[in-house]
Amino acid sequence: MIGGRLSLSRSGKSLGRAGGDKMAALAGRLRGFLWLLGLGLCGAAAALVAVVFVRAYGTARPSRPAPVLRKARLEPAFTPQERQELKEALQGSIRIQTVSFSEDDQNITALAAFEPYIRKAFPAVFSATFIKHEVIGGYSHLFTIQGSNSQLQPYMLLAHIDVVPASPEGWDVSDPFSAEERDGFIYGRGTLDNKNSVMGILHALEFLLKRNYRPQRSFYIGLGHDEEIGGKKGAMKIVAELESRGVQLAFLLDEGSFIYDGIVTGIEKPVALIAITEKGAITAYFSVTSAPGHSSAPPKRTSIGILSEAMSKLEQNPMPNMFGHGPELIMFEELAPDFRFPLNVIMSNLWLFAPLVGRFLEKQPTTNALVRTTTAITMFHGGIKSNVIPPSANATVNFRIHSAQTVDQVLELVEKTVDDKRVKIELGSAFDPLPVSPWDDQTFAIQVFRQSIQDVFPDIGSIAPGICVGNTDSRHYTSLTNAIYRFNPVIFGTKDLPRFHGLNERISINGYEKQVKFLFQLIQNSDLYQPTEPHMNLHEL
Ligand SMILES: *[C@@H]1O[C@H](CO)[C@@H](O)[C@H](O)[C@H]1NC(C)=O
Ligand SMILES: *[C@@H]1O[C@H](CO)[C@@H](O)[C@H](O)[C@H]1NC(C)=O
Ligand SMILES: [Zn+2]
Repeated sequence: MIGGRLSLSRSGKSLGRAGGDKMAALAGRLRGFLWLLGLGLCGAAAALVAVVFVRAYGTARPSRPAPVLRKARLEPAFTPQERQELKEALQGSIRIQTVSFSEDDQNITALAAFEPYIRKAFPAVFSATFIKHEVIGGYSHLFTIQGSNSQLQPYMLLAHIDVVPASPEGWDVSDPFSAEERDGFIYGRGTLDNKNSVMGILHALEFLLKRNYRPQRSFYIGLGHDEEIGGKKGAMKIVAELESRGVQLAFLLDEGSFIYDGIVTGIEKPVALIAITEKGAITAYFSVTSAPGHSSAPPKRTSIGILSEAMSKLEQNPMPNMFGHGPELIMFEELAPDFRFPLNVIMSNLWLFAPLVGRFLEKQPTTNALVRTTTAITMFHGGIKSNVIPPSANATVNFRIHSAQTVDQVLELVEKTVDDKRVKIELGSAFDPLPVSPWDDQTFAIQVFRQSIQDVFPDIGSIAPGICVGNTDSRHYTSLTNAIYRFNPVIFGTKDLPRFHGLNERISINGYEKQVKFLFQLIQNSDLYQPTEPHMNLHEL
């Protein structure tokens, strides 16, 4: 995942320890408030209390439509030898240092070495007559798995083979590219982001093929090689290729969110958050120029002073709190039954408590990122000499746009806030928040995800929609489907948050096996489900 790196779900962190205590205190106060309302014997207030509790307890969770299964599935029971292969194949992939150092600096040697590596690791995938493999953009891979039933609309699984840099300092193992096994974990750059998906998808398919499984529904596997630096050479080229073939997808699944355990305080069970959108982003350049001169007779304001004031205004006037206007609302509503009392009551009644919850969430940077467009001043330059009036100053500001806002709206607010003609504002890159993918029990993808998660993680709590505050390759795929989801079925605890793009990135061997089992089931479930959608857009490859 690129960019802000914290998927919203990850930002659930802000509900973490410290936040949780405050939340509990807040909840305590709310409880008092409700009691007072009830005791006040005010008819209207009592009715309100009644509505609140009915919403929390009165309605059962939305029932899931029973799956219509056409035939028995293969069980994801792997032999000891297969489990060994699984682990070793992942380890080998970590050792190939496919690092994206910067926009135009990647380890080309490693990217080139990846193809022979996967060819060797997945002989069944590369020899199946109904699977086509293409190299796109030099080092990205596109697999087309031709299903036996061309009436079924294809879907797509995405992952990326490039990783962010890692130097050995600070790691518990000697080398971040050694893929060392320790205490049931594989350590290494890429174990979570995102070679687990690259290898996991191919291995699930390999295992199915070895059991003579022939998929009915066609699907694509896209493995980008430059996700960490924007996806221009990989994902964007794969999309162009699929567009030229007229492909439309039933759904697309990429990385981006996890099964969160203990991260949302107030919820005991792990919960699966499947991100249904990503925030947008703007990089804007601000500059001020002024006549140079000697510092012994300075003007009242220099370019540095003027620009600093503009930056200060941006920090002191954050973008509006939008909690309740974006998909974060559905997220908390769906998680509501998992919260313990009285948080369940509050979350079930966001129609009433949204302003309160919104204000609470903005207190921590990670949850603040969920409720508003964030503003980060990331670069500032000015001045050339200690006794010279600076002829210019410039700053770079990175905004991450909330779902309920657009690039234009944010820029308008920025201009209003800065409100100074001397400050020139130029737009670098900018894109709107990604469209919100469908989330309901009638959606084919959601049925397949629910079933596949339940198959492998029968004991988890809710499966709810999330938001990525960073970005993934999937954002390039909007022309191919409106059903884009970001989810890795890996259990993520509070201690795992800093491992992302950080030190000691690792995956448990057991967790990786479960990810492969999930994918093994997902491919089968995509075949077995009869979409309840009456008019699916049928498409031939
Ligand atoms: C590039 O990757 C290769 C293969 O993994 C590795 O041997 C080499 O040290 C890497 N180079 C750099 C500059 O990281
Ligand atoms: C900002 O200022 C620095 C130092 O004066 C300069 O090197 C850089 O090119 C400027 N950037 C822009 C975008 O004006
Ligand atoms: Zn990634």
